[in-house]
Amino acid sequence: MTTRLLFASPLYQQRLDDSDMLDELARSIRYLAEADGAGQQWCEEKDYYGYTSYASLDDLPQRDPVFADLAKWLTKQARAFAKELAWDHKPKLDSIWVNLMHPGAHHAAHIHPHSVLSGTLYVDVPDGAGTIRFEDPRLPMMMAAPLREGDVSEHLRTHVDIAPERGTLLLWESFLRHEVRPHHGEEDRLSVSFNFA
Ligand SMILES: [Fe+2]
Repeated sequence: MTTRLLFASPLYQQRLDDSDMLDELARSIRYLAEADGAGQQWCEEKDYYGYTSYASLDDLPQRDPVFADLAKWLTKQARAFAKELAWDHKPKLDSIWVNLMHPGAHHAAHIHPHSVLSGTLYVDVPDGAGTIRFEDPRLPMMMAAPLREGDVSEHLRTHVDIAPERGTLLLWESFLRHEVRPHHGEEDRLSVSFNFA
């Protein structure tokens, strides 16, 4: 007897092993959170508990060389992932933005439209910071599915929580729904997110 696994949802995990670059990114994120008035206003309007440059700045790699360096490294990682996925396509960085989440913040479940790969690099993850939770994309079809037993392996769960660390990079296919669980720490949680087309 054989049970075959079909239709995987791959998640690419890597480490940015460059403490200086992570420090510089943290400085830049904190600076943008102070200086970007349009972004602050958008966050206020959307009830985003912290700051994101998502809707206000589309030129981070031109604005700050550390994001230009990061964009190169991310492109290398996205190409490696695309190769693993056997894609006949070289992903190109389409958008990149920063997130600073205050204690108490969370981010509701969402997908990233108009892109093929999405991901996040974690720059500062204080104790108690929210995990990222991925959802089985087939969940809407599972109306009659029985509950599963407690501690099962990742590929059998409907949700998988990952607790990133400073320097963790996660990359996934953009259709994969995910959320950021509530931040129970005491310091801001800093990250850089991006889409590849
Ligand atoms: Fe996201």
